[in-house]
Amino acid sequence: MRYLILSDIHSNLEALETILEYRAYDRSVCLGDLVGYGANPNEVVDLLRKMDPVATVRGNHDKVACGLDQGEEFVFHARSAAFWTRDQLTQENRDYLSHLPQGPLQVEPAFSISHGSPRDEDDYILSEPVALHNFRFFDTPICLFGHSHIPVVFELKNGNLTYQLPSDSAVIHLDLEGTKYLINPGSVGQPRDGNPRTAFGVLDTGQQVMEFHRLEYPLENAQAKIRRANLPAFLADRLAVGY
Ligand SMILES: [Fe+2]
Repeated sequence: MRYLILSDIHSNLEALETILEYRAYDRSVCLGDLVGYGANPNEVVDLLRKMDPVATVRGNHDKVACGLDQGEEFVFHARSAAFWTRDQLTQENRDYLSHLPQGPLQVEPAFSISHGSPRDEDDYILSEPVALHNFRFFDTPICLFGHSHIPVVFELKNGNLTYQLPSDSAVIHLDLEGTKYLINPGSVGQPRDGNPRTAFGVLDTGQQVMEFHRLEYPLENAQAKIRRANLPAFLADRLAVGY
């Protein structure tokens, strides 16, 4: 089974539509943060609901946008975008976001999904010690996570932790017997690894392969909409530099 892995879409319709031109997958999963930052929250939620992923977990921005959380820990630009999103969302889409499950969630015997770390949906995995600690919080060989917006593969084998930052079109062969993985596919709608191209992953559980993909998309259109909506200008500017 080939799973399309989407994470941190952040109301970026142009990025999501570009990814959907890629069709070499059977099912999709979403690792949360459908909304927040970008200017098309309803269009993104509508499109994702139409795609009907087999599993979606909620992200921290989804929780604030639908009213489950007040975003007190958010920095200014994130909080103001989350409240703008809350005002924009239709009742139907607000209900959809509020009913998304908390991760980690097992999708099939090979893998689970979470937004932040499997220990805590709001925690970032940005270092080896934090990654190492989190391997005890999921039972499947693989846990896919998002939240940091940075593509990475952590691998734990015989008690040894290694990691790699995958290249734009990396194909990583996995050993699902005796090795565990924490994998971030990168962010669809707001990459933060210095590469502005939209990011997604494909996990092929039959071939035991994780693919990383990056695509150019019309980010100028996403920027123009953010500026027109009077969202913080920084949110538009950062899309061009991938941070
Ligand atoms: Fe995010």
